Amino acid sequence: MPEPSRAFGGDLTARLQRVLEARGLDHIEPGPIDDTPDEDEPGHPEYHRRRRAAWSLARWETATPYRYQGATCTHPELQAWADRVVANPRSAGFVLLTGSFGTGKTHQSYGALRRIAEAGPDRYEVIAITAPDMYALMRPGGSERGTEYEVKRLKKIPLLLIDDLGTEKISEFTEEATYRLLNERYNESLPTLITSNLPALSAVDDRGVKQGPDLTDKLGERIADRLREITHIVPMEGPSRRRRGAA
Ligand SMILES: Nc1ncnc2c1ncn2[C@@H]1O[C@H](COP(=O)(O)OP(=O)(O)OP(=O)(O)O)[C@@H](O)[C@H]1O
Ligand SMILES: [Mg+2]
Repeated sequence: MPEPSRAFGGDLTARLQRVLEARGLDHIEPGPIDDTPDEDEPGHPEYHRRRRAAWSLARWETATPYRYQGATCTHPELQAWADRVVANPRSAGFVLLTGSFGTGKTHQSYGALRRIAEAGPDRYEVIAITAPDMYALMRPGGSERGTEYEVKRLKKIPLLLIDDLGTEKISEFTEEATYRLLNERYNESLPTLITSNLPALSAVDDRGVKQGPDLTDKLGERIADRLREITHIVPMEGPSRRRRGAA
């Protein structure tokens, strides 16, 4: 039985070689195959970042009230905080946005949470809650899932926004609950964004008399002191945006 390549009388490989030589095709080297994924393909870091961003943004939308669905963060100090949260959450620390009604504290805060989501962080778990709702959850009987469950969730959530701190009447309960929550988050270096209508410290006149209420009056000395020590305070100024018909 002849070998297959000799079946037609001659060495098939040799004949093919001659044909290729005649056409100048005998020295073609196969080029390297470029199978590196581009940014629209799985395997490329940008592809995976975009997937994480889409997932995080969906969570952000769920956590964000209708009014603030279009919020963007334009305050440079708050942008810098959001970027630190993305780069290394444990380095970001606390931010306290203070300023009077309608200056855009809530808007900037949801904008900052969105900025973090858009960056496609490794982890995006957020609770955004007003202080009165938060205390309601923490009060005995305030949650079907149990107070301890809620307190633990607020303590451990990787990203927390407490909106309108200081609107509640101070009581032993609010003071203790706030202190325990903030202290735990501070010890664990978990990024926390807080807004308040009150200044951290109100101005005093020549005689040392305070010119208006501040955080100490509404939160108590212990918490106000702690907040001043551990948070980066960002004052929001300007007229109320509501008066200009924004709301
Ligand atoms: N940069 C902005 N662009 C467009 N609208 C904005 C902007 N900042 C705030 N607003 C709008 O202005 C209104 C007041 O803003 P926001 O609710 O953030 O104020 P606030 O400081 O949280 O007020 P309060 O102390 O009463 O809670 C809202 O309707 C908000 O959507
Ligand atoms: Mg607000």
